[in-house]
Amino acid sequence: MDDFTYEGLLQKNSEFLWNPFTQMSQYLHDTPVIIETGDGVTLTDINGKTYFDGNSSLWLNVHGHRQNELDQALRDQLDKIAHSTLLGMANIPAILLAEQLVKISPDSVNKVFYSDSGATAVEIAIKMAFAYWKRVGHPERKKFLAFKDGYHGDTVAAMSVGGIGLYREEFGPLLFDAIHTPFPYAYGFDGSAEECVSLCLENLESTLNNEGDQIAAFVIEPLVQGAAGMRMMPEGFLSKITQMAKESGVLVIADEVATGFCRTGELFAVNHEGVLPDIMAVGKGLTGGYLPLAATLVSDKIYEAFLGSPGEQKAFYHGHSFTGNQLGCAVALKNLELTEKDDLTRQVAGKSLSLSLLLNGIAELEHVGEVRQKGFMVGIELAQSKKDRRPFPAGELTGHKVCLSCRELGLLTRPLGDVVVFLPPLTSTVEELSEMTAILTEAIAKTTRTK
Ligand SMILES: Cc1ncc(COP(=O)(O)O)c(C=O)c1O
Repeated sequence: MDDFTYEGLLQKNSEFLWNPFTQMSQYLHDTPVIIETGDGVTLTDINGKTYFDGNSSLWLNVHGHRQNELDQALRDQLDKIAHSTLLGMANIPAILLAEQLVKISPDSVNKVFYSDSGATAVEIAIKMAFAYWKRVGHPERKKFLAFKDGYHGDTVAAMSVGGIGLYREEFGPLLFDAIHTPFPYAYGFDGSAEECVSLCLENLESTLNNEGDQIAAFVIEPLVQGAAGMRMMPEGFLSKITQMAKESGVLVIADEVATGFCRTGELFAVNHEGVLPDIMAVGKGLTGGYLPLAATLVSDKIYEAFLGSPGEQKAFYHGHSFTGNQLGCAVALKNLELTEKDDLTRQVAGKSLSLSLLLNGIAELEHVGEVRQKGFMVGIELAQSKKDRRPFPAGELTGHKVCLSCRELGLLTRPLGDVVVFLPPLTSTVEELSEMTAILTEAIAKTTRTK
């Protein structure tokens, strides 16, 4: 007989389950939350305590949990079939979703290749770019350019272009050498914001001048470096760097895994600056946060380089067992329909302004160095000293402690070091945002007061 008490489940968790990005020896001491149900912007644990989902279950959730129409789309699809392969054949929702994705995406991308996670969508983008240049007679273009402190997922190519030392250094011998150019993180820069941007542009220019003709693609998190701690590009920077890349013949891969589907207040972050990527990776919010589905969208030019007679072996030799899964595609289709019907882009853009006002109080707290926001993506950088932006000693785990306090007060989120991340579901009302930011304020004030 299964034991569904908290203690019983925790015991099984400790015995059988290895949680990702989690130090298991600490996890069990933190009396972990075990979620049983969700509803709208909240999650309820096995003990009956309800929390706001303050990071949209890792930046995924769009329309809330147990959204009726999304649930029904899944039930309807289940009455037909859960899964059949997309290798050499097709299925209805995969075709229809591809059509919708192409319709709503930037004009430059016209073909959809599915996979299961953000990392695989990026992995595919990298392999496609590499193989593209070989097929069009430029095998010398085999390097990849990306930003320092960028994050693109945990598969090997995605890690190679990733720039966060903690996640990649141990695996160094497994990775290919990517070129990492500095990101304009003005808060961490010793100098003015303008100097920081100039330095980044100069670095990029010199890399493109020296090695541009060997670079296959520039992999970019448009506007927001998420995992680095919600670091924001200054206005105009994205369009400038993508133009520089294009002038050097370098393909632009927009990694919209975190920023896509209205998270930043536009359907895609590239739309803010009219950027037209050659390849675009999406995941997370694609299914409204319901199922693991991702996609890599590419230009016709790239797609066509893979065409030929079967004997020429020019096909893209990549695929996953669950590519184009019907349940994922069906719920994603409904997600896109709701997004349009509810005019979510306008809603998020509007509510972001209210959110900015709510965040003002947090920015004023003694131990908050900076609050960064783009749409519904917020990073609260904690600081021991606000004046000289001195961080807390890393070993004190201040961000982690703030999140534990948030949890006690009824809001779940995960820190990125000492940056407290706040990415509420996109349908959160202003009243809900206000309750959530009140919890964040109290937790930060309480946790840092004693220091
Ligand atoms: C920009 C970006 N790319 C890729 C990924 C990886 O996505 P996944 O965790 O679904 O593999 C993430 C995850 O946070 C991300 O933020």
